[in-house]
Amino acid sequence: MRDFDESNITDAVIDSLAQTKDARLKTIMTSLVRHLHDFVRDVEITFDEWNHAIDFLTRTGQMCSDKRQEFILLSDTLGVSMLVDAINHRMPEGATETTVLGPFFVASRPDEPLGADISHGAEGEPLLVEGSVSSPDGVPLEGATVDVWQADDDGYYDVQRPELQSSLLRARFRTDKQGRFSFKSIMPAFYPIPDDGPVGEMLGALGRHPNRPAHIHFMIAAEGYETLITHIFNAESPYLDSDAVFGVKNSLIATFAKNAGNGSGRVLKYRFGLKSLSQERQ
Ligand code: BEZ
Ligand code: FE
Repeated sequence: MRDFDESNITDAVIDSLAQTKDARLKTIMTSLVRHLHDFVRDVEITFDEWNHAIDFLTRTGQMCSDKRQEFILLSDTLGVSMLVDAINHRMPEGATETTVLGPFFVASRPDEPLGADISHGAEGEPLLVEGSVSSPDGVPLEGATVDVWQADDDGYYDVQRPELQSSLLRARFRTDKQGRFSFKSIMPAFYPIPDDGPVGEMLGALGRHPNRPAHIHFMIAAEGYETLITHIFNAESPYLDSDAVFGVKNSLIATFAKNAGNGSGRVLKYRFGLKSLSQERQ
């Protein structure tokens, strides 16, 4: 193999994959090489531009640590995370739609009793959340675990505040016999994704803002059902139509209603439907 030029190098690289034992890997690499070469041909990349791209990806990797995942942020802001999610979560009627996990989920979070106040006195407009978890056809799921995490009134998660001694605005609940859960909190604010690295630089160069509309994260798991990773967005928030990570779906926008009961604060009521694992195999 020699004498490659812009018209024959793509086939030569694809031919070099012929001995790949893993059929799926071969499919993925063949498509990747074809699309990557077509992209380079399409825009006729210059050396300067290619070096810039290599430098950008190098800095993206160097920004990663056990606390920061700049590559996932890149995937999120290019819409790839939501595309992968859409392909892998085609939900049946009655099952709640999914969205991105985001970087602020923490595996160790406090177990709290139903009705607990996860704001621990943090400043903000009081919020009562009342949810229920059921199968797509409405059968309540008792004992489902419900992880919640959210930003505070200033748009920060607890993990972004090193001065905090313990978790704030995050907890795990278990649903009762009727599949219900509830907790007290404060209204989450909209916030910018971490934009002090290469991804923020890219957004700036593209004239894009880094903001996400206000939301609460939910991760809900029950035996025999696919774990649901989603958010509920505040219908009054700015940026619902320009989320920096393309994560908004109409079915996930809810009214955080004024609390008629005691006259102050808001109430969010939402029914979550989980997809059963047997539905997955159909
Ligand atoms: C979040 O909602 O926590 C989030 C999601 C994607 C990127 C950054 C933040
Ligand atoms: Fe978030």
